[in-house]
Amino acid sequence: SPPAIIAPSILSADFAALGRECSDKMRQGADWLHVDIMDGHFVPNITFGAPVVTRVRPHVERPERPGGRGTFDCHMMIMEPHRWVKDFKAAGCDLYCFHYEAAISSVAATEPADKSTTRQTSPRELIHYIHDQGMKAGIAIKPETPVDVLWEILENPQESERPDMVLVMTVNPGFGGQKFMTSELPKVRAIRDRYPDLDIEVDGGLSLDTIDQATDAGANVIVAGSAVFGAKDPADVIAKLRAAVEG
Ligand code: DX5
Ligand code: ZN
Repeated sequence: SPPAIIAPSILSADFAALGRECSDKMRQGADWLHVDIMDGHFVPNITFGAPVVTRVRPHVERPERPGGRGTFDCHMMIMEPHRWVKDFKAAGCDLYCFHYEAAISSVAATEPADKSTTRQTSPRELIHYIHDQGMKAGIAIKPETPVDVLWEILENPQESERPDMVLVMTVNPGFGGQKFMTSELPKVRAIRDRYPDLDIEVDGGLSLDTIDQATDAGANVIVAGSAVFGAKDPADVIAKLRAAVEG
């Protein structure tokens, strides 16, 4: 498997002290920061947008190479994901991970008001656009979405249209602190069987109790919100999550 990447989700941070919360987590051993963007439409909750990412970004050193330490992994739980690519690039996002379900419904959506930021997107076009804007591209699937929708996207011969990472949600997106869904593990295993080198991220309910199941299935990018931010010793939890991935 590719290297272990531990990505604390700042959804569980103290939003009044977000800059310091982010630099603390890096100092405590995080590889990436997982930044949950919610629009109140794609998911039943609202977090924050590009202006907040812009203000937080200077508190964390930029990665030296794509996908390196300090990557801002933006998990876009939003409708019309193509509309926000440029804003998030400008804000300092390094990896733009959109939802398959949102990209599919955007193709049929009515035309947004601002045509300059508009692209009619299939997942493959959106991935190309994200790459063109200088970010890594991720594609996420909700628990209700079968893994089979990904094969066509991953098998694309055009490298620029292939995702750098797949995110398998292990809870229904919207809130931190939910119970890990073991029902999603076969998806992780099926992707790993076909793609030994792909970054596979799991998100939702990851903790020291559930990490072994996720890594056995083949996940290497581990998001943890409440398990890290709720810990007495976050550095210890991050180190133990990493050890579990590295086996
Ligand atoms: C849920 C978010 C997650 C969330 C995970 O919709 O996508 O990133 O922060 O939180 P925990 O780790 O507490 O399940
Ligand atoms: Zn997330």
